[in-house]
Amino acid sequence: MTVLSAPQLDLETFRRRIDDLVGNHPIVTENHYTRWFAEGDATFDDVVHLTVQFSVFSHLFIEAQLRKVINAPTLDAYRAGKEILLNELGVVFRSSSAGAAPEGVDPTLVSTEGTVDGGRFRFGAAHFEWLLRFGAPLGLGFDDLGKRRHATPATAFFCDELLRLYGSDEGSVAEGASYAVEHWAAAGFWKELIAGLEAFKQRTCPELPLAFWTWHDKVEDQHADHTADELAEAFHAPGFDPDRFLLGAAEILGGVEAFWNGLDGDRRRLAAPSELPSTPHPKDPS
Ligand SMILES: [Fe+2]
Repeated sequence: MTVLSAPQLDLETFRRRIDDLVGNHPIVTENHYTRWFAEGDATFDDVVHLTVQFSVFSHLFIEAQLRKVINAPTLDAYRAGKEILLNELGVVFRSSSAGAAPEGVDPTLVSTEGTVDGGRFRFGAAHFEWLLRFGAPLGLGFDDLGKRRHATPATAFFCDELLRLYGSDEGSVAEGASYAVEHWAAAGFWKELIAGLEAFKQRTCPELPLAFWTWHDKVEDQHADHTADELAEAFHAPGFDPDRFLLGAAEILGGVEAFWNGLDGDRRRLAAPSELPSTPHPKDPS
């Protein structure tokens, strides 16, 4: 990797560099799994497998988010991290723009913006509980979802990379990982999953509540608007190391890639168990 030192580097040059790295990463430009899923042909078993693996990532992400809060370099970053952490756990955002915050815990109702400061904690508003409600019509219960023991090696690898990079105590690495995760999340995978789930719901499982997925899609659209400011803030932070930022971004995208390509390999094996050899993904640590 070319060594970039901050004094020789202006923000716009760095922005082009990181946007090139993230925007052209294969898992952002061509996620084979979500592209296939969006076509709407996923079987019941495919949807169950996605739900279990996504629930592990989504639940263990809370550990990485807590580590990010603990390692936050500033009070502002600490509070920004807590907004995400506590909302994940069930504190409903209190929105200043939407008038009175709606009561209830349903993701079709609760705000996608605002602050947890002064917001109300509701058990049922935890994102994991939304996933439990999504999993119920699929026959998945509390014991079937969200635990590390349910992870495939590819999913476990991604979760470990989140802890190591997104939760890193090295500020530039954590910021780079965070920037890449936000860009990946805003690049459209939620919409592709929603398209596939809508088709599956119509065809197979009309009682399936999709709000876990649609709520997150709405949030990501808002996050995408904020990332430019966040990059400028990170760039001007004391001790900023552009190379470590790029490394954090590149390595977490390797974890993201392992997760989705792991699911893609699994669904191909599910479709033709006897025809395809069981080849682990190159990023698969097992
Ligand atoms: Fe969430």
